[in-house]
Amino acid sequence: MRLLDIATYFTPGSGTSYPADGVVDLAELRRLYAYPDNLTAPWIRTNFVSSIDGAVSADGVSSGLGTPSDKAVFDVLRTLADAVLVGAGTVRSENYGGVRLTKSQQSQRIDAGLVPIPPVVVVTASASIDPRSRLLTDTEVPPTIITTTSASAKSRSALREAGAHMIEVEETTVPTSAVLAALEELGLRRVLCEGGPGLFGTLLADDCVDELCLTTSPNLLAGKSGRIAHSNASVFHRMKRIHVLADDDGTLLTRWVRVRPAGTGEVSGAEK
Ligand SMILES: NC(=O)c1ccc[n+]([C@@H]2O[C@H](COP(=O)([O-])OP(=O)(O)OC[C@H]3O[C@@H](n4cnc5c(N)ncnc54)[C@H](OP(=O)(O)O)[C@@H]3O)[C@@H](O)[C@H]2O)c1
Repeated sequence: MRLLDIATYFTPGSGTSYPADGVVDLAELRRLYAYPDNLTAPWIRTNFVSSIDGAVSADGVSSGLGTPSDKAVFDVLRTLADAVLVGAGTVRSENYGGVRLTKSQQSQRIDAGLVPIPPVVVVTASASIDPRSRLLTDTEVPPTIITTTSASAKSRSALREAGAHMIEVEETTVPTSAVLAALEELGLRRVLCEGGPGLFGTLLADDCVDELCLTTSPNLLAGKSGRIAHSNASVFHRMKRIHVLADDDGTLLTRWVRVRPAGTGEVSGAEK
C-alpha cells in the first residue's frame, strides 16, 4: 500500500521510468499510452470516466465528470488510435460528432503513419441513428456503422445516403466476432472504445477487452446512473495495473491491461 501524495507522478515501482520532477507533459502522455507495437489483431482499449461512487454519467451525459487531466488523456488517446469504437446508446445520448484534432495533432499522426483523423465506428442492432445528427453532419471523415439486417431498411438506407460506411450483419445483434472482423478488414487495429457500458459489457463478456483507461473524477454523485460495464452475468478478468497518474485537483487516471495466460499473446503496455 502506498499513500498517494498531492502531486502529479507515476506509481513508483510500476517499471515505468518517470520524470524526476513528476510532471507529465503531452509527449510523456503519448509515450505512456502508446499502443503495443506489431499488433497482429485489433487491440481493444476502452476509456471511461467515472465518479468516485461509480457513476458513469450525470443527468445522462458524462461531460460533468470530466476534468482538465481527463480531457488531456481523452485527447491523447484519440490521437493514438486508428478508430474510435462506440455503442449507439452513447452516440445518441452524447450527440457524438466526428473526431476533431488540431493540425498539429494530425501532423503527429501522419508522422506516425496514421491517417490524419480516426473514423468513428458505431455498433447498433437497430440502426436508430438520426442521419441529420452530428455523427453524419459534423465530421471530417465518414463514420462506419456496423448494424444488422434486422434493422429497418429505411434507417439503413438513410444512413448510407447520409454518407455512412455501412456494414450489415445477418443477425439480430452484432456479434463481437463481427465487430473484430470488421475492424481487421478495415485495417483498424489500434482501437479506442469510448463506451458505453452496454458495448463495454458485451466486449468484456466475450473476453475481447485488452485494456481499460479509467479516470476517477473527484466527485461523489449518487443519482441513478449505472456503472461502466453491464452484462447479463458477472465475468472476472484479471487486469495488470500499468500506471496511476494523479492530478492536483484529485483526479486519478489509471491504465489497466488484461492479464492473459502465458503463451496467448499478452503484450504488456508497461514495456512500451
Ligand atoms: N463516463 C463515460 O466515460 C461514458 C462513456 C460512454 C458512455 N457513457 C454514458 O453511458 C450512457 C449510455 O449507456 P449505454 O449502455 O446505452 O451505451 P452504449 O453501450 O454506447 O449503447 C448501447 C447500445 O449500443 C448498441 N450496441 C452495443 N453493443 C451492441 C452489439 N453487440 N450489437 C448491436 N448493438 C449493440 C445498441 O444500440 P441500438 O439500441 O441502436 O441497437 C445498444 O442499445 C450514457 O448516459 C452515456 O453518457 C459514459
